[in-house]
Amino acid sequence: EGEFSLRPQRLSEYIGQRQLKDNLRVFIDAAKQRNEALDHVLLYGPPGLGKTTLSYILANEMGGHLKATSGPSIEKSGDLAAILSTLEAGDVLFIDEIHRLPKQVEEILYPAMEDYCIDIVVGKDSASVRSIRLDLPPFTLVGATTRAGDLTAPLRDRFGISAQLEFYELADLEEIICRTARVMDTHIDREAVHEIALRSRGTPRIANRLFRRVRDFAQVLNEGVVSKEVASEALDRLKVDHLGLDSVDHKYIKGIIERFKGGPVGLEAIASSIGEESMTLEDVYEPYLLQIGFINRTPRGRVVTEKAYAHFGYLHSDDLFSFE
Ligand code: ADE
Repeated sequence: EGEFSLRPQRLSEYIGQRQLKDNLRVFIDAAKQRNEALDHVLLYGPPGLGKTTLSYILANEMGGHLKATSGPSIEKSGDLAAILSTLEAGDVLFIDEIHRLPKQVEEILYPAMEDYCIDIVVGKDSASVRSIRLDLPPFTLVGATTRAGDLTAPLRDRFGISAQLEFYELADLEEIICRTARVMDTHIDREAVHEIALRSRGTPRIANRLFRRVRDFAQVLNEGVVSKEVASEALDRLKVDHLGLDSVDHKYIKGIIERFKGGPVGLEAIASSIGEESMTLEDVYEPYLLQIGFINRTPRGRVVTEKAYAHFGYLHSDDLFSFE
């Protein structure tokens, strides 16, 4: 089973995000024609939409290696200097969750991005302490974040290319599931593909995960045949509803309706009332609920919409409290 090729290696294999892909094609070709490194790229958007996958593709397309790290795992400037010193011309340095880089580490990045150099402070005491300039090869920094708004302005301004990843359309998710099935040597019915795609919240990572679980059910309960019926049963048993909402989404929406009369209510209050991290709710759950119009964000907090009331079987938002 060719797990390694589950990730597309080339931009031409990458499904969806059409506009972004077309623009990146131009920037890659232009940089290659000039024999330069690709300009630094900031990728932002909800988790699971392919930011890491894209950065591997950028490294491949530029003929370089990918070095991957993350904001929270770089604690000291020396950690970053150590990684930077391993780069070769044309390599891609991928920093996931780049909004969580410590401030003094971020400051090392500025000259690294702008002038391909870093200043390292050496020496033990005030008499011998000095800074040494280290030249870096031309490289591309790819930063990924779920929260572009949390980046400092100086860091954001140093990315020449900035792109928002969007939730995928149904047809794109279907194509991704078909591709994954092919890579994993599994036959799957057209209708089963559709059923999984419908419940994947516009997110390839979720589509691929649900596909694997559906395939497990098919293997054990249906002689390996991935039919629409098996897919539906598996997804029901995984507590993923027909809009792809899971038990956390249910808790979140029901929590706002039943404990806060549908809102407006602050994120922290919702989070503590249902026992989830507010960051997780904001980064992982809310983007899709906003996208499908189940919640709105107002200056006074989150509000559940009529559409969400209807989906969860409340007739009308007023009916719930009509006894008051
Ligand atoms: N696997 C995960 N995301 C993908 C994408 N956008 N295109 C192709 N394969 C993928």
